[in-house]
Amino acid sequence: MPAPEIALTQRFQTAFVAAFGPEYAEADPIIRPSQFADFQCNAAMGLAKRLGRAPRDIAAEIVEAVDLADIAEAPEIAGPGFLNIRLRTDWIAAQTAELVDPSAALGVPAPERAQTVVIDYSAPNVAKEMHVGHLRTTVVGDSIVRTLEKLGHTVVRQNHIGDWGTPFGMLIEHLLEVGEDSAEADLVRTDPNAFYQAARAKFDAAESAGVAGSALEGEDFASRARRRVATLQSGDAASLRIWTHLVDLSKQYFHRIYDMLDVTLTDEHLAGESTYNDLLEAVCDDLETAGIARISDGALCVFPEGFTGRDEQPLPLIIRKSDGGYGYATTDLAAVRHRVGTLGADRIGYVVGAAQGLHFQMVFTAAREAGWLPAQVEAEHVKIGSVLGEDGKILRTRSGSSLRLMALLEEAVGTARTVIDELRPDLPEAEREQIAHDIGIGGVKYADLSTAHDSDYTFDLDRMLALTGNTAPYLQYAVARIRSISRKAAARGLTAAAAPRVDNDAERALALALLEFGPTLVSVGAEYEPHRLCAYLFSLAQAFTSFYEASPILQDADAEVQAGRLALAELTERVLVEGLDALGVHAPQQM
Ligand code: ARG
Repeated sequence: MPAPEIALTQRFQTAFVAAFGPEYAEADPIIRPSQFADFQCNAAMGLAKRLGRAPRDIAAEIVEAVDLADIAEAPEIAGPGFLNIRLRTDWIAAQTAELVDPSAALGVPAPERAQTVVIDYSAPNVAKEMHVGHLRTTVVGDSIVRTLEKLGHTVVRQNHIGDWGTPFGMLIEHLLEVGEDSAEADLVRTDPNAFYQAARAKFDAAESAGVAGSALEGEDFASRARRRVATLQSGDAASLRIWTHLVDLSKQYFHRIYDMLDVTLTDEHLAGESTYNDLLEAVCDDLETAGIARISDGALCVFPEGFTGRDEQPLPLIIRKSDGGYGYATTDLAAVRHRVGTLGADRIGYVVGAAQGLHFQMVFTAAREAGWLPAQVEAEHVKIGSVLGEDGKILRTRSGSSLRLMALLEEAVGTARTVIDELRPDLPEAEREQIAHDIGIGGVKYADLSTAHDSDYTFDLDRMLALTGNTAPYLQYAVARIRSISRKAAARGLTAAAAPRVDNDAERALALALLEFGPTLVSVGAEYEPHRLCAYLFSLAQAFTSFYEASPILQDADAEVQAGRLALAELTERVLVEGLDALGVHAPQQM
């Protein structure tokens, strides 16, 4: 049951072979939706160049050779050689009817070759602020994994949390001072940033008090913190135990956020920086032995090809500091090695803030040079743009105090609650609570998803929760509306026809939109671009609104017409729900 552009592509390629020879079998007919027809074939211009002939002649020859009789009317030549294609309405109807069958998977094709795709996303830092940036990497990453799974790929989620490194010295010392079971310790679970800042403040105070202070009070906090890093990294059991306690508290915090967000990440997907510890030495040794890394200013560095800094000097990727410590880059190199070598990745996607672009390009290049990332394995940094406050700056505070993610999400649900209380005071309390959750969380997630992932956007709760525009509530409302139509129909004993009705222009446009779901999802998975799915769902919901105005379902006197339109509406509902599910947005039964 091919989507129109796939069916058209096949027919045109057959025509190319017939008209121009077997070497044109793979030429791209460039089929695109068009405002002048249903689709346009834009191949004539390129082929004309290749064949050294006039584009309009080529277009005429294509029209001569192509057999579209059962799919479309004869193409019309326009402009320099565009071919305008109007599909036959009976063909659209037949394709749409096939979509209804559960085995058609709503037109989502099985993959030519199922891949193992590793997606690195969320990745907050232990006992530190999980900020709106992490919220966005979490939401976008989760939508990507859901989409890839729907496309039949094997997805390995990797939550590369920051659970190692120098800050743990100060965090452990602070935890020991406040007491492991104290209320302050509990902050790691409830407001980690506050815990981090308290530790930081002690550290900074000790540092600025300097040597004089420490002589009076014994070893100061800063030196103890530094010493703790060393004992921790050397594997000291007591330090490791406290570290584990910190990480455990942090995990509880992450999972509270993930639960609130309906995100699919669980403990089994945690693969934090610390899990690569035992591999770091080999990473350095192997790179050094292979002549890829060398000592520069006391540090072991890789100078990946093509990266230069100021004065055209080669840019180093430091993998072992002069004090012997390993850093973020070393861990990421070990992670690439593990993901390709052990997890069997065909593709790796890193859903991480755009600011880390250079880091990832250097890591990928170094890994390719080392042979750990073979050419056939794709690695991509899915760059995540910033979330801005109303002042145009990165969102860090709200109403003057520092921003707590949980409070932000609760506020979203609270605002959604006022919306639904006004809209549906008749619904039972528990249901309104559930709907408020779906709208509030869905609204926040959808705002993250509907903007291109590498663009910044302004956090605006009112806009996110609006019932109009390209928002989650608008789509959720469209679903609820169709479900309410189905309930009313059922109450009158009307059930949907087996085949959706595709007759007038609005029905035709809606059916065509439905046929685009499969190809859209494929491209969203291939390009890691959830915002295209949002744009698609928004236009589908708009096509439904136009359809419902032109073709009221229950008012029409003819029962057969009613049943055919109801089938079209119910298919729309299934596609909307499935598309929202790929985004990780839940559609309530009613609104
Ligand atoms: N924890 C890091 C941060 O908060 C993100 C880690 C991203 N993943 C990676 N493999 N480096 O910035």
